[in-house]
Amino acid sequence: MSEKSLNIVPGEFEINRPAREKLNGHRAAVLWFTGLSGSGKSTVANLVEQDLYQRGLKTYLLDGDNVRSGLNSDLDFSESGRKENIRRIAEVAKLFADSGTIALVSFISPFKKDREQAKEIIGRDTFAEIFVDASLACCEDRDVKGLYKKARAGKIPNFTGIDSPYEAPENPDIRLDAEGKTAAECAAKVVEYTLNKVHITQ
Ligand code: ADX
Repeated sequence: MSEKSLNIVPGEFEINRPAREKLNGHRAAVLWFTGLSGSGKSTVANLVEQDLYQRGLKTYLLDGDNVRSGLNSDLDFSESGRKENIRRIAEVAKLFADSGTIALVSFISPFKKDREQAKEIIGRDTFAEIFVDASLACCEDRDVKGLYKKARAGKIPNFTGIDSPYEAPENPDIRLDAEGKTAAECAAKVVEYTLNKVHITQ
């Protein structure tokens, strides 16, 4: 704990997570999507959220490109910038879970130790790691945002998969075949898992 965090006494409040979960009629969870840029994380997360929303569940989607243009706009793509990006998102997702919400988190989160730390911060029972698995060749071929082309031309330093590593999860809670399956098929798998996790019977 840093010196700045000394003399801080976290309070316990009467309206807590179990109370909010009871009100919502379902448990909270953090669905953590990890994968290369262009693998389809945000597309799948978006479909999952729409499905859960239509079932009346409380959701919120935190997305890399969005959070990086606000809360984390001071961070770069160096290893330490990404580490801090993931740490802050984990803390934010923890607050969403405490609010009784199902938080969908869509970030490359390329480093295993940062995802491990996120799991520790959020809590193992709440956290679910979802590996959106599409190869670099596939993501580069799609190049939805045109970023791989720029990275290959040396215009984006530290680009994940090009000159910055992506450490794939070894034991994710869900692995999505984002190359062979459609986004809708991937989303259906996540929805089924989530309903189970938050104790909703279909
Ligand atoms: S993370 O590595 O810190 O988890 P994050 O998910 O927040 O990354 O942001 C990734 C998005 O930022 C990509 O989808 C892409 O649009 C953009 N981006 C810009 N520069 C880079 C870079 N050097 N590496 C990866 N993505 C980048």
